[in-house]
Amino acid sequence: MPTSKDSDIASQPYASSFYKEQTPAYLHYAMQCGTGGQANVGLPAAFSPSETFASCDIGCGFGLTPLITAVADPTADVWGFDFNAEHISSASALADAAGTSNITLLDASFETFLDRSTPDFDLITLHGIYSWVSPENRHQILDILSNKLKPGGVVYVSYNCFTGWASSAPVQQFLTDYIDRTNSESLAGVGKATALVDQMRSAGAAFFGVNPQAGKILDIALQSDPRYLVHEYLTGNWTLFSLAQVANELVAAGLSYVGSADLTHAFDVFHMTPEAQAMLGDIDDLLLQQSARDFFMTSLLRKDIFVKDPQLITSDQQTEALMDQRFCATKPADQLPQHFNFPRGGVSLTADAHAAIKEALIQGPASARMVIDASGAELKSVLNGLKLLTDIGFLAPALPETMTTVAQEHTDRFNAALAGYEKGGDEPVPFYASPITGGGVSRESDPDLLRTLGVTV
Ligand SMILES: C[S@@+](CC[C@H](N)C(=O)[O-])C[C@H]1O[C@@H](n2cnc3c(N)ncnc32)[C@H](O)[C@@H]1O
Repeated sequence: MPTSKDSDIASQPYASSFYKEQTPAYLHYAMQCGTGGQANVGLPAAFSPSETFASCDIGCGFGLTPLITAVADPTADVWGFDFNAEHISSASALADAAGTSNITLLDASFETFLDRSTPDFDLITLHGIYSWVSPENRHQILDILSNKLKPGGVVYVSYNCFTGWASSAPVQQFLTDYIDRTNSESLAGVGKATALVDQMRSAGAAFFGVNPQAGKILDIALQSDPRYLVHEYLTGNWTLFSLAQVANELVAAGLSYVGSADLTHAFDVFHMTPEAQAMLGDIDDLLLQQSARDFFMTSLLRKDIFVKDPQLITSDQQTEALMDQRFCATKPADQLPQHFNFPRGGVSLTADAHAAIKEALIQGPASARMVIDASGAELKSVLNGLKLLTDIGFLAPALPETMTTVAQEHTDRFNAALAGYEKGGDEPVPFYASPITGGGVSRESDPDLLRTLGVTV
């Protein structure tokens, strides 16, 4: 039975943020790359710019990600819901202020959303949900995925992974016990509880000597927003998963694992010894192979992509799709670096690919096809260069030009509305919407970068 402590935690507002992995533009590219999974899964037709698209963000918090998704594609039908009424009323006020009419924001729980009349969705995303809700809630989520996702539809789900978090389980339990035993209000108590754990470490608690990863995570917690800490550690449900466990649960909703939204998966060669890569390559079962990889990477959060009845395409079709994907620079293009440092040493783009990509991006968003047509650079080096630059955050996948043109007036209105809008008090919304990436861009960004990304404020 829920206690008053449960409702204290459930009603705590979360921090407003934006997650690129939930946007169609970014997921589209990650699926084309097939990172951490199958490279030959066809994209659902709805991902094509000429088709209409329906998406839903489950447990959307303050709704910034679905709002940005909606303004970046005004023909899409975007939904988001959350059972925290403050989250939804705040997100709805921003949608009204920006005149964003293609989003439906509902104050609903996983259970009640099931009975709401909705379209069938092409994309359902859940970020920061699966590890932090009860088994009963996960069943409700699976029912939503079973009943409200189209055949061919895509699910993005993130969850806490054993390999990164297992040694922090006693810390999570201690924080929960502290709030219970001291009868603290969660938001005020979580900072004190974390500080006490830090004092234990300073006083020589042997636990941190034998569990160094728990100390690294404690350092992150000590720097974190208390609202994040409440939702990360105190929801009463903190379940660590392996990919195989999540895949076993999602199979009940007809979903198959197709890959990861984390492009780092494409670059194991820069993170692992040749022996480790060969060892992983010998594990035939994809899910086991991924779990074994998580041991090498000490993965904290997995960001996985599942598809209902995936359709396969040929490798030529996959290459064609990658050739037409546009990218834009998210840092000054004329400063595009050629050399990068990774745990296993330095890596360089080939001189031709580096020069060709840089030249193209200085002019504006460019696809591999545009880069190659203008320079004659080699296809594989250009495709790999673009992927690597996207993984390290120098580039972002860009929307097709026709979509950017349509989106501009909507993102302009949204970005202008942010100036006069205050979320749940006096805290500014942290991201603008870019009509070029279809995603968010930090409001703290350099004005030149904002202009490059189509943000005119
Ligand atoms: C950790 S926050 C993540 C919010 C958002 N997805 C993000 O990543 O910023 C978890 C969210 O799930 C919502 N939530 C938890 N249980 C829920 C339920 N049973 N039904 C609907 N929303 C729920 C909470 O209100 C909260 O906003």
